[in-house]
Amino acid sequence: MTGDRELWQDVEAHLIRYGGSFAPYFVARAEGSYIYARDGRAILDFTSGQMCATLGHNHPEVLAAMRRAMAGALHLFSGMLSEPVVALCKRLAGLLPAGLDKAILVSTGSESNEAALRMAKLHTGGFEVIGFTGSWHGMTGGVSSSTYSAGRKGYGPAAPGTMALPAPNCYRCPLAMERATCGLACLELGFDLADRQSVGAGAAVIAEPILSVGGVVELPPGYLVRLKQKCAERGMLLVLDEAQTGLGRVGATFAFEQQGAVPDILTLSKTLGAGLPLAATVTGAAIEADCHDKGFLYYTSHVSDPLPAEVGLAVLDVLARERLAGRAAELGAHLRAGLEALQQRFECIGDIRGRGLLLGVEIVAERAKKTPAPELGGRISRRCLELGLSMNIVQLPGLAGVFRIAPPLTVSRDELDSGLAILEEALADCAG
Ligand SMILES: Cc1ncc(COP(=O)(O)O)c(C=O)c1O
Repeated sequence: MTGDRELWQDVEAHLIRYGGSFAPYFVARAEGSYIYARDGRAILDFTSGQMCATLGHNHPEVLAAMRRAMAGALHLFSGMLSEPVVALCKRLAGLLPAGLDKAILVSTGSESNEAALRMAKLHTGGFEVIGFTGSWHGMTGGVSSSTYSAGRKGYGPAAPGTMALPAPNCYRCPLAMERATCGLACLELGFDLADRQSVGAGAAVIAEPILSVGGVVELPPGYLVRLKQKCAERGMLLVLDEAQTGLGRVGATFAFEQQGAVPDILTLSKTLGAGLPLAATVTGAAIEADCHDKGFLYYTSHVSDPLPAEVGLAVLDVLARERLAGRAAELGAHLRAGLEALQQRFECIGDIRGRGLLLGVEIVAERAKKTPAPELGGRISRRCLELGLSMNIVQLPGLAGVFRIAPPLTVSRDELDSGLAILEEALADCAG
């Protein structure tokens, strides 16, 4: 086996660095809620890999589905269909309300959003797309134009017609108002600005029901309903990106079910393949038919591949059988109670928010003043990792660091308690 030192030299010589720094260890294997470094260290994974491994790592039913696919077909000419692909599209429609009954299966979240925006543009005849400040919809050309949290500078022009809407972060209200009395002023002002900039060619609003990279920001009560109305009034489609929130994580199968409005187009990705590259764009028959009539093209190498579809079916089986959405609600309440107990003790925990097993913990220097403390957040995060807990911290320019806590939905209570104990020790070491 190549030694770690030599591997790091090879990393330096041969890998393109694509964002931040690499974790300071090489992973040998992963199982359940843990990943194991090559030196044998067990690391509790409170990020579910890249927010995908909702069933934990290497779930036996995912592995079995892969074996089933290996006995059949892995990949096909993009115009050929197989039973798992048709079955998965049908199963998704069965989980969703009427009006979301037709799906296309692709590989990544970026692609699912690209497909959604292409359909919205073709269907409406417009091209303007509104997205939240603090959003992340992917790295490919079209959707990176509607990703406002990072990566905008240095890559040339964004797509014409892309506009930002203030993320409704009530802990740090962009208009310094109070939630109880604001009347969703940020939404009203955002649309007022968009209307003035618009050349009358609106296509879509794209939104995460809980902004994840944006700091685990929940949409306030009533916001999504009003957003959908705003879209309808302008002939724009509402695209909801449930890459992270979809399929159980927030305590319901889909986050929009908790928010009272159904999107025109729904995208699912990360949690659908639970670690395998699988994503879906889902819409209604009328939009699909109109796009088809207008020559809709979204032809990729891995569209409708059977292997990931077989895995997606297994993921939906486990989700239903093990009632993972309900589990996320119960365990999320347990985790939140543990975090709230830590908040009693540590002044630097400014805010705890989120739903189910997607929780955000905002780190501040002084709670009363909400003073951002991004470097403290970074220190706590590094200390957690040394102690055996992987917890992602998201940092937006000018904002405090926010821990994004998202363990697998299969996590046990004991594992949650172990994670809380590690976090407590890290907080005591860095901010005690
Ligand atoms: C909400 C959301 N949408 C889309 C994406 C992009 O997905 P992918 O990286 O699979 O292209 C991400 C990735 O983090 C995401 O968080």
